[in-house]
Amino acid sequence: MNLHLQNTLPKVFRCLAAAALLLQAGYVGAADELDLAVKNGCIICHRGAEKLMGPPYAEVAKKYAGQRDAAKILAEHIVKGTGPAGQGWMKEGQATLPFMPANSAVKPKDALRLANWVLAMKGEIPGLKQYVTERLAVSGFVEHQLDLSVEELRKFPAKDVQEISVVAQSPARAGTTETFRGVLLRTLLEKASILSPGHNDLKRVIIIAKASDDYAIVFSRYELFNTAVGDGVLVYFEKDGKPLADDEGRIAMISSKDIHLGGRHVRWLNAIEVRKVGD
Ligand code: HEC
Repeated sequence: MNLHLQNTLPKVFRCLAAAALLLQAGYVGAADELDLAVKNGCIICHRGAEKLMGPPYAEVAKKYAGQRDAAKILAEHIVKGTGPAGQGWMKEGQATLPFMPANSAVKPKDALRLANWVLAMKGEIPGLKQYVTERLAVSGFVEHQLDLSVEELRKFPAKDVQEISVVAQSPARAGTTETFRGVLLRTLLEKASILSPGHNDLKRVIIIAKASDDYAIVFSRYELFNTAVGDGVLVYFEKDGKPLADDEGRIAMISSKDIHLGGRHVRWLNAIEVRKVGD
């Protein structure tokens, strides 16, 4: 082997290894970007191929294809919003809201990743379906563990909750009333029967509602069974008479008696965990 080859071979291998790493990183990256989009609420307003409040990402990709600095421009729009004049997506019939509000919690470097992810979109958002939940488990400090499908949830006494939709959750429908149908969380907990060996234990029980994207919120047993909040915590499977779409999973939850709505709203609900704290 001549000296030249001896020197270049390791370089070639290093290049191949780097390319493999990059490919791998690209793959992991796409999952991370979906995660970013989910955590930042982008998917409340956007899908890959479907028009919601915002335009389908595949249409955005088409419009900006080949445009220099597209990623940079879009990243800036993502963080700052598209301003009162907007970019005209609604006028083109591709959105139901005239402009995008600022997503100021998104860091510029994440916005750039999201912009590139959007620009590469050709159809439905890959991987979104993985979040959709079909079952709800109730476990932990209970006598009977439950594992319920939507059909099984329908066998419990149904409750309807009406809620005026709030701006933060759904600007296009702000002020309209939505009807949620489901089962009170309290009813499910009665079925599972929270353990209560000591009188004071009851005041130390918390209930964690978890979603498939790792979002979680907490209630106390006390507020659910002993305050008006409990009358409004609904595990729901229907909205306005229809089964829930992929953006909520098949099972979701709201706490409709909270003063600030939207805070304890769990989409893709998949687990209720009962815990005794302070042991
Ligand atoms: C409240 C709804 C809403 C949310 C949340 C939202 N968008 Fe938008 N988005 C819109 C609307 C509406 C438009 C069209 C705006 C216009 O025409 O000015 C838009 C446009 C866009 C565009 C195209 C902008 C352009 O210059 O043409 C991109 C890219 C985009 N959104 C990405 C995102 C990302 C990424 C997130 C999450 C960090 C997000 N959006 C969150 C409603 C939303």
